[in-house]
Amino acid sequence: MLAIIGGSGLAKLADLSDMRREVVRTPHGDPSCALTFGQLDGTPVVFLARHGYGHTIAPHEINYRANLWALKAVAAEGVIAVATVGGIRDALGPGELVVPDQLIDYTWGRASTYFEGVDQPVTHIDFTQPYDVGLRARLLDAGTRANESMHDGGVYGCTQGPRLETAAEIERLARDGCDLVGMTGMPEAALARELGLPYACLAVVANHAAGRGSSASSISLEQINVVLEGAMRRVRRILGAVG
Ligand code: HPA
Repeated sequence: MLAIIGGSGLAKLADLSDMRREVVRTPHGDPSCALTFGQLDGTPVVFLARHGYGHTIAPHEINYRANLWALKAVAAEGVIAVATVGGIRDALGPGELVVPDQLIDYTWGRASTYFEGVDQPVTHIDFTQPYDVGLRARLLDAGTRANESMHDGGVYGCTQGPRLETAAEIERLARDGCDLVGMTGMPEAALARELGLPYACLAVVANHAAGRGSSASSISLEQINVVLEGAMRRVRRILGAVG
């Protein structure tokens, strides 16, 4: 059974069949919401809304440890994380879908490891490839079968939020090599790796990042919602084809 973490705009999977909800508690506190089990085009999935079903939990307030722990506890075999992002690279305008292959973490102050506290041994995970190679390939293949184009590869820069970035911050991210900017990719990806859960990201570009393209002077939040509404139908088709 695959797990899907839905971000802004995908808080619900409207047409999951055989739906069942389950509240899972963890040693790290409560996940963002009850888990939803069901079938997506015949494939069993478990779904978690990262920001809660009412979209009330900000990126820096999400209990990432509880979320990933809960998915592991119900025996998910891997996690596809749907994430809304801003596009930095020119080709990544609103509505584009990207499967990143690298990330840079700019977040701070988040509970970002299971390996801390006096009862835990010091443990370092390998994170050279932050996204699972096999699950990325499955996701890209699903895009091909669903006839939806996706960009294969890109560097996801994860900022702290909840505010959007300044134009100068985006310039710095671009100099660092970031292609996309979002607020939830970390510590989510690292915690999945700590638990041994294969993890891949399907990023939905909602807007040009600050200072770029149509966001040259400001970012239109209304426009973001319009873009997400259209893109999420395509995301739903891709997820249904992952199988
Ligand atoms: N920056 C950070 N996170 C985002 C953006 C952005 O421009 N758009 C959607 N999520």
